[in-house]
Amino acid sequence: MSEQGKANIGVVGLAVMGSNLARNLASRTGNTVAVYNRTFARTNTLVTEHPEAGFVAAETIDDFVASLATPRTAIIMVQAGAGTDAVISELVQRFEPGDIIVDGGNALFTDTIRREQAIADSGIHFVGAGISGGEEGALKGPSIMPGGSVESYKTLGPILASIAAIAEGEPCVTHVGTDGAGHFVKMIHNGIEYADMQLIAEAYDILRNAGGFTPAEIAGIFTEWNKGELESYLIEITAEVLTQVDAATGKPFVDVVLDQAGSKGTGVWTVQTALDLGTPVSGIAEAVFARSLSSQAGQRAKAGNLPAEASAWTIDDKAAFVEDVRRALYASKIVAYAQGFDAIRAGAATYNWNIDLGAVSKIWRGGCIIRAQFLNRIADAYGKDAGLVSLLLDGYFTKAISESLASWRRVVAQAALAGFPVPAFGSSLSYYDGLRAERLPAALVQGQRDFFGAHTYKRVDAEGTFHTLWSGDRSEIAAEPSTH
Ligand code: 6PG
Repeated sequence: MSEQGKANIGVVGLAVMGSNLARNLASRTGNTVAVYNRTFARTNTLVTEHPEAGFVAAETIDDFVASLATPRTAIIMVQAGAGTDAVISELVQRFEPGDIIVDGGNALFTDTIRREQAIADSGIHFVGAGISGGEEGALKGPSIMPGGSVESYKTLGPILASIAAIAEGEPCVTHVGTDGAGHFVKMIHNGIEYADMQLIAEAYDILRNAGGFTPAEIAGIFTEWNKGELESYLIEITAEVLTQVDAATGKPFVDVVLDQAGSKGTGVWTVQTALDLGTPVSGIAEAVFARSLSSQAGQRAKAGNLPAEASAWTIDDKAAFVEDVRRALYASKIVAYAQGFDAIRAGAATYNWNIDLGAVSKIWRGGCIIRAQFLNRIADAYGKDAGLVSLLLDGYFTKAISESLASWRRVVAQAALAGFPVPAFGSSLSYYDGLRAERLPAALVQGQRDFFGAHTYKRVDAEGTFHTLWSGDRSEIAAEPSTH
């Protein structure tokens, strides 16, 4: 505390994430935490239930601002969108130059850029910080991805480091980059989360419906997998979900849940952004679309009798089959992360952020939803070569994929023959084959574009831009690059 009796940090918005983050902050030595919520009843409940936290409870926004030591630092934990803008505006009216407003919600990074620009002239710092780890992470140690100015990080960095998860002895927080970089990286984190979850779901589906394993047996398989290179929070919780039995019916929990996946938007943002940046995130896109397809209840209800022409998936050696699925999952997962890191690099280039991909992989090793043993390997890869053009070109990952390839192809091919949907497995394999192809049929696409729209093309054997006179004598002429 820099001023007697005042709080060095404040939290606005005391729903579960905000309350837990406030409790986490209060539990660390040196922090005094002011708390404010639009409805005071919620503030009161938090303060009453947690006297040990020593919260400074504010009934009004004026009290809240007055309770903060300078530079005032407030973390907003409200629903992304209009609510965030309203709180920012209330704080901006009362804050002074040098004070710091942190948006810890899942804001769209372009909103963060806009919000920072809007208050830049006031001298107040605006920091968009991605916070991952759900309710438990917020309480015990999340992974934190702050953007904003270098100057604001001097004040904020130690506070965030005090509450972040620790992985390999290091706090899972880094100054990702300026303005919207933190929320951008959190968005990509969530996109990868979608891909990871879909890939695990595809593995489950094959094990269950081709392999004939029960949910409890698959939980056992995932628990085994969790001891090896797939070790991760998502594999671990999948085993827990599959072990759950519905109290009302005695059936496996997974069988009583409606098979329509919801989403709150961050996966969609990742794909929309990647489309704009021209960076393929096909694994993530398939994961988003798989959720959309699952929710097309009307179409699915009518499509159940469409022809399948599927052949049986004959499994002679169950252990070999399980290992095939594991390897297909691992290889597809590597592709999803490679695509996610490519998207971060593309975003950094477009928005002028200096993002250290190795540092990002390190802060994802603990606290966040995609935390995994395998992020150490990604950190190693970028540690060896910060300019690595694709994770797939790192020796460790090249070897991992090469050891998985035969299994991966078998699983995708067998799934197609047997009529199992494996959009994320399949698209990841196609991406891999596309990336390594010496020649792609894109040359033919260029020919088609030139034919119907004079969109021009380049040659493999000469500089310049060309067009063929398709409706004339079909001779080739030098052309200006097409702008239409
Ligand atoms: C996290 C999570 C968190 C949340 C997302 C995804 O990092 O803690 O990603 O942000 O679970 O909102 O939710 P949807 O699946 O509903 O889009």
